[in-house]
Amino acid sequence: MCGIVGYVGNKDINSVLMAGLWKLEYRGYDSSGVASIVNGDLEVRKVKGRLMNLQEILADKPLSGNLGIGHTRWATHGEPSEQNAHPQVDCKNEIAIVHNGIIENYYSLKEELIKKKHVFRSDTDTEVIAHLVEENYNGDLKESVLKTVSRLKGSFAIAVISVSEPDKIVAYRFGSPLIVGLGKDENLLASDISALMDHTRRVVIMSDGEMVVLKREEVKFYDKDGKNIEKEEKKIKWSPATIQKGKFPHYMLKEIHEQKDIIQKNVNLRIKGSEFDFGENFHFSPQELAHLSHIVIQACGTSWHAGYIGKYLFEDFARVRTEVDISSEFRYRNPVFDGEPLVMAISQSGETADTLAGIREAKAKFLKVLSLVNVRESTISRESDSTIYLNAGSEIGVASTKAYTSQIFQLYLFALYLSRLKWALGSSEIEEKIKEVKGIPEKIERILKEAVKIKKIAKKYKDGKDFMFIGRGINYPSALEGALKLKEISYIHATGYPAGEMKHGPIALISKDSPVVAIAPQSSVYEKMLNNIEELKSRGAKVIIIGSEGDKRIKEIGDDIIYIPLCEENLSPILVAIPLQLFAYYIAALNGRDVDRPRNLAKSVTVE
Ligand code: AGP
Repeated sequence: MCGIVGYVGNKDINSVLMAGLWKLEYRGYDSSGVASIVNGDLEVRKVKGRLMNLQEILADKPLSGNLGIGHTRWATHGEPSEQNAHPQVDCKNEIAIVHNGIIENYYSLKEELIKKKHVFRSDTDTEVIAHLVEENYNGDLKESVLKTVSRLKGSFAIAVISVSEPDKIVAYRFGSPLIVGLGKDENLLASDISALMDHTRRVVIMSDGEMVVLKREEVKFYDKDGKNIEKEEKKIKWSPATIQKGKFPHYMLKEIHEQKDIIQKNVNLRIKGSEFDFGENFHFSPQELAHLSHIVIQACGTSWHAGYIGKYLFEDFARVRTEVDISSEFRYRNPVFDGEPLVMAISQSGETADTLAGIREAKAKFLKVLSLVNVRESTISRESDSTIYLNAGSEIGVASTKAYTSQIFQLYLFALYLSRLKWALGSSEIEEKIKEVKGIPEKIERILKEAVKIKKIAKKYKDGKDFMFIGRGINYPSALEGALKLKEISYIHATGYPAGEMKHGPIALISKDSPVVAIAPQSSVYEKMLNNIEELKSRGAKVIIIGSEGDKRIKEIGDDIIYIPLCEENLSPILVAIPLQLFAYYIAALNGRDVDRPRNLAKSVTVE
């Protein structure tokens, strides 16, 4: 979602702002813009569409000056257009502002400002901030921003520049991420550490209710009341992952192919003999975990599907009752907590607004929070009591692939760990399962070698209009994930169902024109799955079956078969995910979709 960059220093402002925006591109956006101050005037360039359009405009009409702000916008209020792109400016074109988040009370503020004769030129909620800063300005930009943010409701990270004080950028964080980069003779800010790392490894992560005033030679932090505060500087030791597509036409395909190595890396990091090592950010003691009464998992989208698989794992292995909730529901449903629950948040980006709000809801009730996060130093990991990192590397494609399988992997090991603490599984059973886990990378590789066959099947079904994905048991969430993957990147309608539920309604949709993807590896519910598939076949459905190598029965009933290696039932969602991802990928690519940046979607969903 929206990305912010800011720079004050002596480098070429066009290249620094553009380089930062390119780094934020993966978050998803539909327009962009930059602004700087030159000889007492504000210069603004804005475009609809891809960043390349902004780069072209800047090549033609570059900005000058040594201070500027930039923005990628993902539309919430007002369509994607040049007018609605940020920076937004005040009436006199003297104050420019970029914003990530939503101003919930913008309507009443706008009415108030219109009465005071402010002239609005966009449909955005953001523009009210520019006018409020103008209204409150009394010779001190910092004071005027502080006064302004005290009137705002919602979530926001903002950066403001003004021709009256051309040596500084004033920024404020409340609910959306903002990181400051400290340089020599230059200082920066951005929504994401990756946008700073070409310039510096010294960063300060801002918390909610904090302001920063950035000058070329000085950075000062303030609390919401304007009191000077000291902030801890962090040295980023890790390097940004190489984010080139290499030989692959899309990041998504590259990321699908990285899964073997990522799981292998996690096997090496997490399994130490017969012990588990969940990393340096995991602080729960065995005693604490042994006493927990139940687990509540909350997450969004694909991460929620991984969480749903977690439910099966925790209940089966550790006999720990587990609830799974979509974060946007969890945060508003006033959940009941009794006993000593552990709240788990799962998120690739670590910045998803609803998941973060769910954590805050849990913390307000004094509950312990464990998060499973991919992006290091992200807000969700910082606000959780403990974090297990996914170690999946940067995921650029909007469709989550490698983060998802890594989430399942971590959940699997954590469930085994809990089962040991709770005396649910015996040591030999746990050993056996660890052995199975170690075999997963090689099995993923075998599936990836079959990618061409999956492409052929995708070609056959690429014109389908309605797809049904079905599964049972631990692969019911896999069916939900298969449907989500297909719809989000191909724009083809798809729905996921527990196979046993079909006859309670959805079977009415079945005809020869509605392909069904049935997930039926060897498992405790295998026979039941076959019965469900037969029911669909006898109503004319075309069925693609994902099943286990060597299974002859599925060959007789399926129209097309994708084989995965045999594995322990509870590990099968990892293997099943690979053909589901490839199937969705090829259908979308064959239909000419923008696979890595599907319409209307953002990689990091920082607004609710
Ligand atoms: C996945 O393919 C999606 N694009 C989306 O559902 C995503 O999983 C969801 O927005 C949650 O994101 P998070 O994992 O970064 O919290």
